[in-house]
Amino acid sequence: MESEEIRKKFLEFFRERGHVIVPSSSLMPDDPSVLLTTAGMQQFRRYFTGELDAQKDFGGKNTVSIQKCFRTSDIDEVGDKTHLTFFEMLGHFSFGGYFKKETIEWTYQLLTEAFGVQPERISATVFTGDEAVAFDKESFDAWSKFLSHSKIRKGQRKDNFWGPAGSEGPCGAANEVYVDDMEVATLVFMEFYCLPDKTLKPLPKKGVDVGWGFERIVKVTQGVENVFQTDIFELIIKKINEIAPHLKDREVRVFADHLRAAIFLTADGVRPSNKEAGYILRRLLRRTLAYQIKYDIHADLFSEALKFIKDKFGPFYLEVKKTQEIGEVFEGEKNKFQKAIAAGLFELKKRDKISAQDAFYLYETFGLPFELIKELAPPGAVKDLEYKDFEKEFKKHQEISRAGAEKKFGGHGLLFNTGELKAKDEEELKKVTRLHTATHLLQAALRKILGPEVKQMGSDITVERTRFDFTFSRKLTQEEIKKAENLVNEVIQKDLPVGFVEMPLEEAKKTGALHFFSASSSEGGSTSGGGGEKYPERVKVYYVGHSLKDAFSKEFCGGPHVGNTLVIGKFKIIKEEAVGAGARRIRAAVFP
Ligand code: ALA
Repeated sequence: MESEEIRKKFLEFFRERGHVIVPSSSLMPDDPSVLLTTAGMQQFRRYFTGELDAQKDFGGKNTVSIQKCFRTSDIDEVGDKTHLTFFEMLGHFSFGGYFKKETIEWTYQLLTEAFGVQPERISATVFTGDEAVAFDKESFDAWSKFLSHSKIRKGQRKDNFWGPAGSEGPCGAANEVYVDDMEVATLVFMEFYCLPDKTLKPLPKKGVDVGWGFERIVKVTQGVENVFQTDIFELIIKKINEIAPHLKDREVRVFADHLRAAIFLTADGVRPSNKEAGYILRRLLRRTLAYQIKYDIHADLFSEALKFIKDKFGPFYLEVKKTQEIGEVFEGEKNKFQKAIAAGLFELKKRDKISAQDAFYLYETFGLPFELIKELAPPGAVKDLEYKDFEKEFKKHQEISRAGAEKKFGGHGLLFNTGELKAKDEEELKKVTRLHTATHLLQAALRKILGPEVKQMGSDITVERTRFDFTFSRKLTQEEIKKAENLVNEVIQKDLPVGFVEMPLEEAKKTGALHFFSASSSEGGSTSGGGGEKYPERVKVYYVGHSLKDAFSKEFCGGPHVGNTLVIGKFKIIKEEAVGAGARRIRAAVFP
């Protein structure tokens, strides 16, 4: 039975039994409590709670759907023989119509009659009960009609009670249905509303939420060893093997899963970015790009995948036919990635141990995604590196950014935040201080190389990098960038002292120290020291060198700075770009 036929049979089976066919909702849900659509029931959540009326909206109490789903919980497992990120869920639902008896009877019929599974291969689990909810005897009895007692196992809450995806929502006892040792369906009997404090409130009407793993049931009916051997994946796997014969089996499966998922996400309007669903898409794409770099694959895998998905899924999911639009998004990401990656790879290869913190640093500074670090680092270096630890760093960072924003509006959370420099603890303060002095050196170097047209428009320093905006009328050449970088490093190597003198504003101006004139603030974020900066009557002039007179750099500044330049370490320009007419931005980092 082809996968296409299984979809049709499923819809038809439940249509004949009084269900209205409802199309899949988007992978980007309306429900703000979840990032992406993870289950068929999501679009029906408010019918279970009684907020909406199915009879009114669908003309019946029961619905059936084939829902596009995406789960990140298993993303690290993808590449084995069963896990997928994107998958289809065959679902049927009732909002105050039938309940356990009919659901279980139909489940058994569907499996044995429609899908032709031998009865002896089927087993089920039911909720054993706990202090809050009783043993699910009704399900046990209903299954007993079809299965011997040894095939009905009693399970705990973690597998046999469906809780809400967010902090609250409809919930209830669940059955799992197995063929051999593979779970193919979950039957949820919605009876309660689960509140954030975990207390249960009975729902006005009981409901049914059944979800079948489409790829799994296709695997079962096709009698193959794993989901990647079904007709859903067969051709794309073949194509990938042809194009890239050196890939390991695991990598081929990652390719197939990630490209398919990325196409579906993009078709539903997700775009690569550094947050939320956009970051998930970026991870998928960049992981496949990482393999392409690792194996030096030049064939256009993206357009091959687009063609394949369009043919295979287009008849059922029209949105994946927008291959040109999706292809453009993929190309854009590829270009961004290639630009970012060179410097990052250099850094990566230097290290013989990469902690979650290092991995986050490589991600934040160079845009190297976690997967790529895992794939391309020296083998022993990433043995203990796990995504969950990286994610912790990621979250910590989000909290810091949030804290930074709060600080500006009078909140608390950062140890240090001048607007220009931000640090959350002593260690970060040391790092941003090194970057701060490096930023002064960079400005002085740029003026020596490009002339006095260069004037600071603003800067923003975080623990990962400095971002320096300045006036200049054209793009810098590679040679100029290199020269500036080298000059800063030369000065650092001289181990010059850094000092300051405090003096009246007018006198300070006469020293030739750099300060803000009337440059207007650039677009693109919170840069400090935009136009119209007002100086106090007395100012500090920081200088790098043995005396103010012959200093390499002198600027009006509040500090803090390093005592001697050697502590700065190695200085590296990461990126140079335009931020508006006549304005440029450089991002740079320092390394021990
Ligand atoms: N909502 C249930 C699941 O996703 C059916 O497994």
